[in-house]
Amino acid sequence: TPTAVVIPAAGRGVRLGPGAPKALRALGGTPMLIHAVRAMAASRGVSLVVVVAPPDGADEVKSLLDAHALPGGPPSGSWGRTDFLVVPGGSTRQESVRLGLDALPPEYGIVLVHDAARPLVPVDTVDAVIDAVREGAPAVVPAVPLADTVKQVEPAGTPGEPEPVVATPERARLRAVQTPQGFDRATLVRAHGTVTDDVTDDASMVEQLGLEVVVVPGHEEAFKVTRPLDLVLAEAVLARRRL
Ligand code: CTP
Ligand code: MG
Repeated sequence: TPTAVVIPAAGRGVRLGPGAPKALRALGGTPMLIHAVRAMAASRGVSLVVVVAPPDGADEVKSLLDAHALPGGPPSGSWGRTDFLVVPGGSTRQESVRLGLDALPPEYGIVLVHDAARPLVPVDTVDAVIDAVREGAPAVVPAVPLADTVKQVEPAGTPGEPEPVVATPERARLRAVQTPQGFDRATLVRAHGTVTDDVTDDASMVEQLGLEVVVVPGHEEAFKVTRPLDLVLAEAVLARRRL
């Protein structure tokens, strides 16, 4: 079954601080989005990448992708065996993913959704997700064990106020979820057509349909660049790879 990846890259990156949209910020001198697209194109199973660009940045992103194709390489819209499409995004991640799904040609039966903000995910993680969907799971998420103990609190109305603890879930049973998340296409399209709540990952929409979601091992280098310290870590990981 041909596999496509939707890369939501339309966010502004408020938590990273002022500057260009997060996906276009440089990492080792190259925009984060380009790293993310390369990470997907590195998997032999991926034949199409749909980039969901900042709402007014689709033309800029298209030029950027063409500029990073191999010199003298394939025509516009392709990096060799991986084709790409660019569509403008929406005001929430969920809306951006849906706009990416709407642009998918009919032949793609498996869809991965990967955050542009996870530029360093290893190809083995991508392949593991694709393999699990091919083996029949309708929804697959890569995830890692937690380092910190997690507490559920009653959020305070005012920032900085003490917050009462409600519960402490057993850490050994918790997982921090990453991307790419992989889906049977029809299942993901149905989830996006049905679930309207605010959610922070695609798999939770499939859970809300009552379908099974499975976890496969993620990777520590698939962390999300969210705050300024994450950018420091990402630069260090990249520098270590280039040694
Ligand atoms: N995203 C998107 N469209 C949006 C919001 C987010 O495509 N309207 C994408 C981001 O570009 C990112 C991914 O969803 O690749 C994960 O979101 P997050 O890390 O929260 O990025 P931002 O929303 O850009 O960051 P922040 O929440 O700090 O503003
Ligand atoms: Mg966000």
